[in-house]
Amino acid sequence: MKILFLNGPNLNLLGQREPAVYGRTTLAEIETAVRKRAGETGAAIDFRQTNLEGELINWIHSAKGVMDVIVLNAAAYTHTSVALRDAIAAVGVPTIEIHLSNTHAREAFRHQSMIAPVCRGQIAGFGALSYVLAVDAALSLG
Ligand code: DQA
Repeated sequence: MKILFLNGPNLNLLGQREPAVYGRTTLAEIETAVRKRAGETGAAIDFRQTNLEGELINWIHSAKGVMDVIVLNAAAYTHTSVALRDAIAAVGVPTIEIHLSNTHAREAFRHQSMIAPVCRGQIAGFGALSYVLAVDAALSLG
């Protein structure tokens, strides 16, 4: 099982960014936790972050036929990007939407996800644990 973790804008600042909302764990620490859980299960992980919408789209395209599952924290693009939604639908790689925070308990503009209808499921609100839970969720799709 090959799992591609994609992280969108501002997630490179985790640890310093709004810690009351997102916690003090850095993205590098989250990656370490994901790799630890994956190591216990035999899953292979590719873990990336970009602030650029087009780069996320290119990475989703390149997952076709190569990766078994995409785990996507699209960050703010979750709420705005028809292009990301179309990319997920186009490649047909099973995709899991994740968030650190419970977006449904926050501002109204975060309640809508453009990508949710083309994702297999959503994990939100568990902080860094959302990522570790996503490893098991991805395995359940394999
Ligand atoms: C986020 C939630 C988004 O609304 C926000 O724009 C982010 C992070 C989360 O992981 O909780 O950047 O995706």
